Amino acid sequence: FHAKQIPQALAGQHWVITAGPTMEAIDPVRYISNHSSGKMGYALAASAISRGATVTLVSGPVQCTPPAGVNLIKVKSADEMLAACESNMDTPASVFIGAAAVADFKMKTATDQKMKKTSDSDEMQLTLVKNPDIIATLAQDKRANIMVGFAAETQNVIDYAKSKLERKGLDIIIANDVSRADIGFNQDENQVTVITKQTSWEPAKAAKSELANQLVDFICQHSQSTPS
Ligand code: CTP
Ligand code: CA
Repeated sequence: FHAKQIPQALAGQHWVITAGPTMEAIDPVRYISNHSSGKMGYALAASAISRGATVTLVSGPVQCTPPAGVNLIKVKSADEMLAACESNMDTPASVFIGAAAVADFKMKTATDQKMKKTSDSDEMQLTLVKNPDIIATLAQDKRANIMVGFAAETQNVIDYAKSKLERKGLDIIIANDVSRADIGFNQDENQVTVITKQTSWEPAKAAKSELANQLVDFICQHSQSTPS
């Protein structure tokens, strides 16, 4: 199977991809976020479009240039990202890829006025609550035929990734060692391990654009071998 020779292999399919960080407001001028660049998610979107898919890209705040032809939906918070995904998956999508680095927590109550330093204490506490798990929610509600997650880990990469595959009800998880400075967050290259219930595969370290093509081809082959 050579998808590069079949550029329209994904014609008629709708892929929904999340990318970038989410940004959780603390007050009108401050936020909680992370170092995700969005590069992997944008590269996956470009690759799926080049194979003929219709692609909805739900993106947190990033500097990336949106690929031509994408349906780009810009969001900030995890709550907004979940709502944008749900409203664009009214009929089940062909594939959902959660490439976003969703903030795990948000403020229990974001204040609508700028928080002031208090003069009586050198410490301050913020009370956070868990964000919704976007990909687990979409998987539970069967909003896509194939659910693909990423697992950002700094240790026990494969074991933790496998447990996320199970816990979130995914078909494929792409494990990423974010402790390495040369790959992953904000880098142009990435090295991953692709894990399904049946197999695992470790493509060579490559530019995110090249890796994206390989991952899209893998997902495409996996979906053809999986009765939906
Ligand atoms: N994810 C999500 N919603 C969240 C958190 C994560 O959709 N609130 C998705 C990510 O987009 C990714 C996958 O879940 O596809 C795994 O994200 P990760 O941060 O590695 O896993 P967590 O479940 O948040 O666990 P932890 O950060 O504690 O390792
Ligand atoms: Ca997390």
